[in-house]
Amino acid sequence: MNHNKNSKSRAVFGTRLGLIATTVGSAVGLGNIWRFPFEAGVHGGGAFILCYVIFIFLLGVPVICCEFVLGRNSRSNYFGAVKHYSSNGYWKAGAIAGIIASLMILSFYSVVAGWTLEYLFQSLTGGLSLQSAEQFHERFTAFSTDALRPVLWTALFLLANFGILIRGVTKGIEKISNIMMPMLFVILIAFCINSLSLPGARHAMDFLFQPDFSALTPSVVLGALGQAFFSLSLGLGCLLTYASYFRKDVSLARNAVTVASLDTIVAILAGIMIFPAVFTFGMSPAAGPALVFEVLPSIFTRMEGGALWAPLFFALLVLASLTSTISMSEISITYFMEERGMTRRRATILNTLIALVFGTLCALSFGPLSNLKIFGLTIFELFDYTSSNILLPLGGMLIAIFTGWYVDRRTVRTELLGERADTPVWYRVLIFLIRFIAPAGILLVFLSALGLI
Ligand code: PHE
Repeated sequence: MNHNKNSKSRAVFGTRLGLIATTVGSAVGLGNIWRFPFEAGVHGGGAFILCYVIFIFLLGVPVICCEFVLGRNSRSNYFGAVKHYSSNGYWKAGAIAGIIASLMILSFYSVVAGWTLEYLFQSLTGGLSLQSAEQFHERFTAFSTDALRPVLWTALFLLANFGILIRGVTKGIEKISNIMMPMLFVILIAFCINSLSLPGARHAMDFLFQPDFSALTPSVVLGALGQAFFSLSLGLGCLLTYASYFRKDVSLARNAVTVASLDTIVAILAGIMIFPAVFTFGMSPAAGPALVFEVLPSIFTRMEGGALWAPLFFALLVLASLTSTISMSEISITYFMEERGMTRRRATILNTLIALVFGTLCALSFGPLSNLKIFGLTIFELFDYTSSNILLPLGGMLIAIFTGWYVDRRTVRTELLGERADTPVWYRVLIFLIRFIAPAGILLVFLSALGLI
């Protein structure tokens, strides 16, 4: 069978730390540092964050386990894995939706990564040495609405992504992630400590950690669900594809909890870093995608040694974005290679070209194409909303149903428990979450967002 042929030539991640670092590398990225603060800000803070954390552990962790089980057991790409267990066309359509979602995310994500590159450049050339929050706002608006620069940076970022991908997975990513993730973590903590000394810190803590439940509308809840899935790289076969490179002797459930916890901690730290500055400098928490890019420079200019911190931070953020885009690119690349018979080179070129075309449209949707609206959303917003809030949670629901109800129970058990004879309580709880809570929970959030309940 096709997947058997592939499984022989498939690479395997070297160490347990490498495995954690690569999956965390996929999970941690702009989703935590750019998207989480802006979504939390738009949706009113505390209540959104509480929902987000509940979704991560109640729905996210079980679905991560499902992706891990399917990937490691089939040792195949998303589409191949589904085919391995079922010949039903509906499931395959689900896998194709995941692959499309991965390309949509890659497109708009590369634009934001491109903004990060511009800010890295600015921080190195002294362009961030302005003073007032107003000036930073104007600077960002001028840059992001430009017809050329954002497109060039997007293309440059995609080129870097291409350069790593063409060499294959394990060589590059494991190494980058092993060094970079701990560094990012340390620097974030340093920034948080600095932010907590700002006068707006109290206000920020209330905003982040004192839920105002009256703010909890169905669309806020759906936003939290979408953010949870986006941040965990979940529901589109990304963790499934990575798990196909896992060794047989690592514990899937334990790794799922570790990845979810680290990812959540990074997001919360990003919130603690951003919001004290937002309230101190009188900015609006609901500024949207621009938020982090307008706030961060204000933080740096006011920090001891900010001129050094800023480039380091933006460089780390670019790397964190790369480890995420590599993982989302692998979804379509492994599909093109293993199901469409392309060489790695061709598959990677195709992946990059698609992202380049749609990424350009997304980049221009802040400037020249800002009036082009579909369902009232710009192209960038449409790509972001459709993939994160619709395709990923729906994909996660399908993956949970598929694993919980269609895949042979013994297969699931052996992947999660090994040869262990007794059945621990956590396993029963996990299976219950996979079979009932995850599908029903996601469905309920959708129905209420559609106004049906
Ligand atoms: N989880 C990544 C982040 O937080 C984004 C991502 C989404 C990566 C989907 C892969 C797949 O930045």
